Amino acid sequence: MSVLVTGGAGYIGSATVAALVRRGQPVVVYDNLSKGHRRAVPPEVPFIQADLADSARLRQTLREFNVSQVIHFAAFTSVPESVERPDLYFQNNTVNTLALLDAMRDAGADQIVFSSTASVYGEPRTEILEETHPKQPANPYGLSKRFVERILETYDAAFGLRHVALRYFNACGGAPDRGEDHDPETHLIPIALQVALGQRPHIQVFGADYPTGDGTCVRDYIHVDDLAEAHLLALDHLERGGASEQINLGNGRGYSVRQVIDVARAVTRHPIPEQAAPRRAGDPSRLVASSRKAHDILGWRPRHVNLDDIVASAWEWHRRHPRGYED
Ligand code: UFG
Repeated sequence: MSVLVTGGAGYIGSATVAALVRRGQPVVVYDNLSKGHRRAVPPEVPFIQADLADSARLRQTLREFNVSQVIHFAAFTSVPESVERPDLYFQNNTVNTLALLDAMRDAGADQIVFSSTASVYGEPRTEILEETHPKQPANPYGLSKRFVERILETYDAAFGLRHVALRYFNACGGAPDRGEDHDPETHLIPIALQVALGQRPHIQVFGADYPTGDGTCVRDYIHVDDLAEAHLLALDHLERGGASEQINLGNGRGYSVRQVIDVARAVTRHPIPEQAAPRRAGDPSRLVASSRKAHDILGWRPRHVNLDDIVASAWEWHRRHPRGYED
């Protein structure tokens, strides 16, 4: 019996595949490589290059590998892109997930770990977000994921398909030979590191008039390997008959955009010039997690708690692979 990992060639997916391989779990990756990288998946792992919309291939893969558990990463993840092209986000993130769930029902696979996001919450009403906080996504990306959370609840009630929806805060960091490689890159930490590598002249700071300490947006940065570990624990939870859950994954500490850039300066010893820019559409002012539920239910605790160390791990990846997986 294999675990099917959709989007296993992506940033968080490939970190999770590496963790599954480390613990000796049979795994099959299903990825259309529209965003992911073939080289991010170990050569010994079965790899199906196909689209989630190809339901015949999906059904065949679920049967052939005798899949009972799925981890579903495959999705678009850029907040600014989702504001401009919500159609792509609803189609790829919501409609294609529905197709996956129906293929799972047909194949008798009844457990799924789903990549959700802190973006489901929208503008926060409390400093620290518990899972019960109102869900009013501030952008189409968050909405595309929130729709899936509601579908998952409904499918559990109707069909007994159990899920753990993991709401990631800001994934970051890497390993020497595994890291973030998006095209185009829109995320804060890799962009700051690309400036330090001389690939960009400066970093733009999108908005300095938010109701936060220094006026820039605050986020909770969590190492990708800690996220990967949580997926293994979520599989175990479902395997032992655990109930469906929606669970935050963050470090519980907020850093402003300016603080993150300062950390990148310290780690890289590069001045990383910044340029003031208008607010970016769809950005909540602050997203910081309570991860108490992840600890209570999954026994999860992040191991990488120091932002300097997390950025240093990303820096090592970017320095060794300045052109990402091309190198
Ligand atoms: N930012 C800049 N300059 C940049 C890039 C980003 O100022 O060049 C700012 C953004 O405006 C935002 C913060 O840095 O305030 C973080 O932005 P990212 O693009 O790195 O990340 P987001 O918070 O927008 O989104 C990320 C993931 C989502 C996830 C979300 C959860 O991309 O998938 O974290 O908090 F849902």
